Amino acid sequence: MSVHATRMPSSRPPSGMSRFFAAKPATCIEDLRVLAEKRVPRMFYDYADSGSYTEGTYRANTADFAAVKLRQRVAVDMRNRTLASTMVGQPVSMPVALAPTGLTGMQHADGEILAARAAAAAGVPFTLSTMSICSIEDVAENTDRPFWFQLYVMRDRDFIGRLIDRAKAAGCSALVLTLDLQILGQRHKDIKNGLSTPPKPTVRNLINLATKPRWCMGMLGTKRRTFRNIAGHAQGVTDLSSLSAWTVEQFDPTLTWDDVKWVRDRWGGTLILKGILDPEDIPPALATGAEALIVSNHGGRQLDGAPSSIEALPAIVDAVGGRMEVLFDGGIRSGQDVLKALALGAKGTFIGRAFLYGLGAGGEAGVTEALTIIRKELDVSMAMCGLRDVTQVDGRILARAPYGSPVKAAGAPDSTR
Ligand code: GLV
Repeated sequence: MSVHATRMPSSRPPSGMSRFFAAKPATCIEDLRVLAEKRVPRMFYDYADSGSYTEGTYRANTADFAAVKLRQRVAVDMRNRTLASTMVGQPVSMPVALAPTGLTGMQHADGEILAARAAAAAGVPFTLSTMSICSIEDVAENTDRPFWFQLYVMRDRDFIGRLIDRAKAAGCSALVLTLDLQILGQRHKDIKNGLSTPPKPTVRNLINLATKPRWCMGMLGTKRRTFRNIAGHAQGVTDLSSLSAWTVEQFDPTLTWDDVKWVRDRWGGTLILKGILDPEDIPPALATGAEALIVSNHGGRQLDGAPSSIEALPAIVDAVGGRMEVLFDGGIRSGQDVLKALALGAKGTFIGRAFLYGLGAGGEAGVTEALTIIRKELDVSMAMCGLRDVTQVDGRILARAPYGSPVKAAGAPDSTR
């Protein structure tokens, strides 16, 4: 089902005026973004589509992909291609997981449940954020595939211990521990928009909401409108409606590698460390015994001025030297971007905004659409690089190593290419 189809309940071809108004199919993630911008209330669209401070790192995350060039190969048998791979040992239909994103249930009513369902149907992992609207239990009750849970460490360790236990009880198959957001990088638009969940009934908000009837209807039809992992579970959170307020109040700025070990022991399952960007952080990351790390600058939402994720990736791959799995997050808007991240050494990738745009544009069908777009782009681009199996992608498909990167695999192409 396409996002296009969600706007046209009738399957009959449009005629007359309706043909004039008929929507064009979404052919790329940008089409979904444009639609999401129309459909999602301004404060939540802006929350997703922004970075911190000058947004320099946010922009670099996408822009730097353009500097990575692929080698075009010809006259290669392109039949029987496969995108199947594994991420932290778990089978995936393509190496693309849905990233943990805060307030997903404000892009669309019940957004986390819908995104988890779309991911399950597509055979890729869904990661639920601590800062989600739907709770761990909401998602578990409404999906039938295990999902991953993302954890922020807060001052109240009893609460965090119980949160980890809840993820275990819900059957989550990996814990993604975020290390780069103990304090919040300022996002100017969130302050200017008075971001809160649910939105406060100010004149400005009411005027904006009046232009989003589809979103409002969805929200009226759900009870899930606040941070349900936290509400009723954590003590002393005084202002749950304001993300920045409760981050300041609750997140633990004293977090160190010792705390990571505490989380690892309490969890006892597959652990993924998110937010690593610097090679000097690799030795302590390895010492935690975590299965994987995610190269990430939090979507350009934290340290403005940090390198883009794709720029940082090769040095991290080098420093890790195969001792743990390296996953990638930041700036992916196409299957070509996924291919480039894999070529630079990532075992798997995450998409955040790319699926949020689909969600805002068309709910579950929109997330499916985003995954389908990326899958097709990845498949076709891989074939044009002369490969049929995504697990074979490496630095040999790069036309040149960007940033003087340490891509080592640039030998002669093998006979399949
Ligand atoms: C939370 O993860 C945020 O970046 O707002």
